[in-house]
Amino acid sequence: MHVIGGTASTALAERISRELGGAPFGIPFTKRFPDDEMYVRVGGRLEGEDVVIVQSTRTDNDFLELILLEDAVREAGARRTFVVVPYFGYARQDRRFFPGEPVSARTLCHHVELDADAVVTVDLHSSQTLTQFTKPAYEASGIPAIARLLAERSLDLLVSPDKGGVDRVRRMAQLLDKPWFALEKRRIDSEHVELSLPSTLPVTVEGKNVALIDDVISTGGTIVEAAKLLRKKGALGISAACTHGLFLKDAFERIKAVVGDVYSTDTLGNPAEKASVAPDIAQILQRLVAG
Ligand code: R5P
Repeated sequence: MHVIGGTASTALAERISRELGGAPFGIPFTKRFPDDEMYVRVGGRLEGEDVVIVQSTRTDNDFLELILLEDAVREAGARRTFVVVPYFGYARQDRRFFPGEPVSARTLCHHVELDADAVVTVDLHSSQTLTQFTKPAYEASGIPAIARLLAERSLDLLVSPDKGGVDRVRRMAQLLDKPWFALEKRRIDSEHVELSLPSTLPVTVEGKNVALIDDVISTGGTIVEAAKLLRKKGALGISAACTHGLFLKDAFERIKAVVGDVYSTDTLGNPAEKASVAPDIAQILQRLVAG
């Protein structure tokens, strides 16, 4: 099996190749034409091989690079192509919220799978999105990797900043054997949210060391507001953990001003990247190759 690391996921792709017992690893050549069109070229002897392409699609350019790489790998005569999208961009637009909108997640699934034999991603915003693929699609989880990190910390309570994260925080709480609850969240706009405590709490917040658990930290608005609310309710220490750390603009600094430790996995390069999803992704790939 060969592993190709797209420009958005080079480090993680290399970690995955190591987890696969030192599978040959390559970085494609990329450049821009004078008119700004993208050019990619894959190297190595890929004919008749199983090839894994690893590329998060945080930006539209990342997405374009991924579909060009898939075509290049097919042209190179690969036997099967397994596409790993650690951070699947557009996953949050998984339904039509207002008339006239696209279901962006669905259309991205269809394009990503076009030249793939199977797709592997990590902690989709909603696992329902997996059903949009028509080819075999698998979701690895960043939760075990984050749980291993949090297990070394002194924590009393886990909190999801919204109801959408209930399954995630419940799973983490089971692994760590801690109580949990979810805040009520109302999104005002893409950078501002309003948060409140649920009407019944399993434990008090006062004097507790709390970890906020989210799938994505983007502008940081959610984590900052959640931390302020928990602090107001008497939390002693607050940390924050996510699978996908986008940390747009000054999000990391704003979060660090109100939160102690910040943890994320390596689906995206960022200053909080402290746990790797490479072993979890490699496990799925090994099953795919064997099957
Ligand atoms: C939303 O439902 C997600 O789970 C995250 O809470 C959200 O994407 C975080 O965004 P931000 O950091 O911009 O508040």
